[in-house]
Amino acid sequence: MNYRKLRNIEVSSIGYGCMGFSHGYGEIPSEDEAIRLIRLAYEKGCTFFDTAEVYGDGHNERLVGKAIEPFRENIILASKLYIDSNAVGGSFEELETHIRAHLDASLEKLRTDYLDIYYQHRVNDDIPVEDVARVMGKLIVEGKIRGWGQSQPTAEQIRSAHEVTPLTAVQSEYSMMERQFEQDVIPTCKELNIGFVPFSLLASGFLSGKYSNKDQYQGDDVRRVITRFNEENVNKNQPLIDLIQKYANEKQATAAQISLAWMLYKEPFIVPIPGMRKESRVNENLGAADVHISEEEYTALENELSKIKVYGNRTDEDIAKLKDID
Ligand SMILES: NC(=O)c1ccc[n+]([C@@H]2O[C@H](COP(=O)([O-])OP(=O)(O)OC[C@H]3O[C@@H](n4cnc5c(N)ncnc54)[C@H](OP(=O)(O)O)[C@@H]3O)[C@@H](O)[C@H]2O)c1
Repeated sequence: MNYRKLRNIEVSSIGYGCMGFSHGYGEIPSEDEAIRLIRLAYEKGCTFFDTAEVYGDGHNERLVGKAIEPFRENIILASKLYIDSNAVGGSFEELETHIRAHLDASLEKLRTDYLDIYYQHRVNDDIPVEDVARVMGKLIVEGKIRGWGQSQPTAEQIRSAHEVTPLTAVQSEYSMMERQFEQDVIPTCKELNIGFVPFSLLASGFLSGKYSNKDQYQGDDVRRVITRFNEENVNKNQPLIDLIQKYANEKQATAAQISLAWMLYKEPFIVPIPGMRKESRVNENLGAADVHISEEEYTALENELSKIKVYGNRTDEDIAKLKDID
C-alpha cells in the first residue's frame, strides 16, 4: 500500500467504502464476515474507511465502529450527515443544534469521540453552505471532527464553503463512465488543495468486467434501477470493458485495477473508496495501488476512452425508483 493526502490528512491511496455491508447492493454478509473483511483491509495497509448515518439506518456505522475499534487511532474515519431542511427552522442556532445531534449520534454508533472527516451528504438548496461551514468550523476547533467535506457539490458551493472553513475533501461520483466533475469540481479541488474522493468509482462494479446482461439483482440493489445496468446498455457499453481489459491483459492486472490505477494516476489528491464484500475483491482492489500506469500508457488510454460513448448513468433519481419496486 502507499499513501497520499486529502489536504492535511494522510490516507491509504485506496480506501474502503463500507456502504455495501448494510445498504445498496442487496443481500448483506454476516456481521462477522463484514468485520473480518474490514480488519483484513487494515492489515493490508488500508487506513481510510467510509460510512454514513443513513447506510442501513445506523447499521453501517455500528458495524464499522465495532470493526475498527481495536485500531481506531490508526485510521481515518469518515461519515456523513443529511441535513433535514424541514427540521431546521432557518436560524443558525437550529442548524448548529441539528448538526451536533447528528454528529453525536454517529460518534456513539462508531464508538469514538471524533471523526476525521464529516461530510454533508448532499448540499441542501435552501441552507446556506456558509452556515454549514461555520458549524463545521466550530466542531473542528472543539476537536469533534478533524476536517469536513461535501458530497456532490458544485464548484461554486465548494468555493463558498471553503472560504468560511477550508474543506478537507469532496466526495462525488467519478469513474471512466462518469466524468462530468473533470470539468470544474476536480480542478477546483486542485486549486484549493482539497482532496477528491470518488464514489461508485467502478460504476457499481461494472468496470470490473465481471458482470453481464444475464446477472439479476435483488432487494435494495441499486443495479436494478441504474440505467447503465439495463440489458441494452450493458451490451452497448461492452467496447469500454474491452478497452479496459486490453490494458489489463498488457499489464497483467485486472480491469478493476486498471480503472483504479487510471484515477490514481490523474491527481495525487484523488483517493477512491471501492465497495467490496468478498476477500478476493479486497485483495484485488487494494492491489491496484501497486499497478502503475506510465505517461505513455495513460495518454493512449485517455485517447481511446475519448472515442467511446457511455450509455446509461447512476443518478439519485434512478436510485429513488427502488422504493417503487418490490
Ligand atoms: N457520497 C455518496 O453519495 C455516496 C454514494 C454511493 C457510495 N458512496 C460511498 O462510496 C463507496 C463506493 O461506492 P459504490 O459501492 O457505489 O461503488 P463501487 O465500488 O463502484 O461498486 C461496488 C460494487 O462493485 C463490486 N466490486 C467492487 N470491486 C470489484 C471487483 N474487483 N470485481 C468485481 N466487482 C467488484 C462490489 O461487489 P461486492 O459488494 O459483491 O464485493 C459492489 O457490488 C460506498 O461503499 C460508500 O461508502 C457514497
